Order: sequence, then C-alpha cells, then structure tokens
Amino acid sequence: MNWMKRTSSRFILVIVSIIASTVLGVSTLARQTDSVSILMPAPFADATAELVRSFNKEHKGRIHLDVIRGPLETESISDLAISSLLLGDTPFDGLLMDVTWVAKYAKAGWLAPLDAYFTDQDFASLAPGANEGNHAEGALQRWPLTSDLGLLYWRTDLMDEPPRTPKQLETISSRLQNSGQVPFGYVWQGRQYEGLSCVFLEMIDGFGGEWYEPQSGAIGLDGPAGIAAATWLQDLIATGISPRAVTNYSESESLQSFKSGNSAFMRNWPYAWAELQKDDSPVKGKVGITTMVAESNQPPAATIGSWGLSLLQGSHHPQSTIEAIKYLTNEQSQRYLFTNFGYTPTQAALYKDEQLTNAYPSLVAIGEALPYARPRPQTPLYAQMSDVLQRNLSSTLTGLTPPPAAMKQAQDTTEQVLIAAGATP
Ligand code: GLC
Repeated sequence: MNWMKRTSSRFILVIVSIIASTVLGVSTLARQTDSVSILMPAPFADATAELVRSFNKEHKGRIHLDVIRGPLETESISDLAISSLLLGDTPFDGLLMDVTWVAKYAKAGWLAPLDAYFTDQDFASLAPGANEGNHAEGALQRWPLTSDLGLLYWRTDLMDEPPRTPKQLETISSRLQNSGQVPFGYVWQGRQYEGLSCVFLEMIDGFGGEWYEPQSGAIGLDGPAGIAAATWLQDLIATGISPRAVTNYSESESLQSFKSGNSAFMRNWPYAWAELQKDDSPVKGKVGITTMVAESNQPPAATIGSWGLSLLQGSHHPQSTIEAIKYLTNEQSQRYLFTNFGYTPTQAALYKDEQLTNAYPSLVAIGEALPYARPRPQTPLYAQMSDVLQRNLSSTLTGLTPPPAAMKQAQDTTEQVLIAAGATP
C-alpha cells in the first residue's frame, strides 16, 4: 500500500516536472521569438515580401517579422497610422514613413529616436540626398529605405532633345500632337492628393518662386511664380496638351498612359523606369529621363520624395525591430529592390557600381537630378498646408476658379493654418 502510494506520488512528481519543463521550455522559446510588425504602403509591402521571407528564415526562433500591407497612397496610410497611434498602444513596432510625415510624427512624440542604433559609418554609407528629411526635433527619426525624386520622362524616338523650359515642352507637345504622333503631350499627377503638391512644388520653384520658407515664414503661393505655375498647369489641360482626365491621375494612371504610348512626356518618380522597360511595354527602349522644365533663368527643381523606416514609441521589441530595419535597408536589399522594382537606392556604393549604372540609365539620371532636389515645406503643419494647396489647385484645374483667385485663397488659408497653430508668418 505504502509502496504503491510512494510510487504513485513519485510518478505524479515526474509527470509534473515533465509538464513544468515542457511548459517552461515552450515559454522560454516563445519568449525568444520576438514578433515584429511593420506597417507599409501596399507597393512597398509587395516589393519587400521576398526580403521578409529571407529575414524570417535567417532569424528563425529569434524574430518573426510581419509586414502589414496598408493602403496605396501616402495620405491614406498616414491616416491609418495616426488613428492607431492616437489610441496609444499601437499594434505596430515600425512604420515606413514618407518624408513629409517626419516633422509631425516626431513632434507628436510617436517615434523612438534612432541615433543610438546607427554609427558614423552607417551615415557615411548613404548616398548624397538620402540623408535628407530623416531628422526632426534634434534626433534621427527614420532610416532611409529608398530615395525618390520628381523626374521628367521623354520619348527619345519622337525628339532629339528633351525640353528645358515650360514653353519648349508646350511647343514640342503641340507639334507632335498636330502631326498625329501622340494623342497627348504631357501626363502628370493632377488628382487632388499629395502627388499634385509635388508637381506644383517643381513648377513654382521652376518659375522662380517658393511655396513656403519655414525660417522667414514667407508664403509664396499668390506671388507671380505661384500664379504662373497654377496658370501653366491649367493651360496644359485647357489647350489639350494634357488630357482632361489628368485631374484624376495619380502616379499609376500617368504611368499607364505614358507606357501605352499616349503621351510624349510624363512627370513621375524613378520607380516608373522599371515598369517602362518591361517586355510588355510599347515604349521599351524609347524613353529618356531628365530634370523637370524651368524658366530659362531658373534651375530645374526635383521634389524630394523618399521613404524610411521608423521605430514606434511603445514597441515591445525595439532591438528586433532595429534588426529588421537594418536588414531591409542593407546594401543587398537595396540592390534587390532597385533591380526588381526600380526603388532608388540610398547606399552610395550602388551608384558607383558600373554594372548597375550601365544596365540602369535611370540611376545616372537620378544622380544628375540630385543637385536640384527640393524638399516640401519641413513643418509639422505640412499635411494641412498641402491639403489647402491641393484643394485650391484642383479647383483651378477643373475650371472652377481662375488661377489668381485660387492661389489667393490658398495663400490666405495657409496663413490662417499657420496663425491658428501659433506658427505665425
Ligand atoms: C512618392 C514620394 C512621396 C510622395 C508621394 C506622392 O511616393 O516618394 O514622397 O509624397 O509619391 O504621391
């Protein structure tokens, strides 16, 4: 009896210790695998899918990275991120950020500074321009994944040289349209969204003006250059150089139209090059890239785009998130993203790689446009300012308001936004 009791209690002990060690073992294992999630706009989530797979393979048992596929456009993804950030406990550890969000997110305290994670050597490895727009509130707020610049695409089979001024672009377009070589001259981003602000920045600068100067607080929207820029864009539509539908075009519609051979010129970012060179592209091998047109006494302007990865405050796994950020932005990943999806590298070494520059002339064009790179206004109020500009431009492009009145309205409302926020011009 006693013997039986002793044996069964020993048996229970063994069972308990097996269960305990199993449970403990499992929980130790579970603790070792950090789940990291990063929110990205859909095209970047798709482009990085393969990299994420290899990251997870290499970090098996330690880190599991999940990329959350957000909406396509910059404003929609920012709205999504902000609505979860405002709730306090965000479900994301990291976020792929557009350059225009940095000032606002940093001011709101949503980002964890990255200075401690990146060395002088890391900074030295960046291409000129890739360092733009990553700092705010005196700290490093995001690490660049891809550079971006506004460029003018032109058809090398239809002309010898690309236009340098707005007037030349009109003249070449009309000639080609009149001779029936193309239905349209120029496609760009005319929808009421962030892409339109990028288009406008290039033109206001190209006409010798400036949208906003944060240091002096000067707003140039209803100055001569602001009005000239809005008038030029509206005239392109009125004269049929640009299709009426351009007021509904974002990057992808412009690209589809240009790719199908419908237009002599297109304004777009560097990624478009890869799409135009695909085998299904009727304009494959017939496209050149250059800087945007500008008045002959002005340098051209190239709006700086660029996306970078940030660590969110409150991430439960900051170290592992940083490991993922470093992996996605390393030289090898950059090469993969550039050669497969046309995303412009941020690592200087790739611009010196002759194999790449020979195979991808877009890389050379980007290098040439870099000195003309212009940031959008770097202020936490940028989203409001851009919204005001887009509304008024859209009203003028669709023929509702004449350009001077629309620009006056944009000027006054921008002033009100700044005054209301205590950032008086
Ligand atoms: C590109 C740019 C980004 C810009 C957006 C506008 O993604 O990189 O900076 O805001 O286009 O559509």
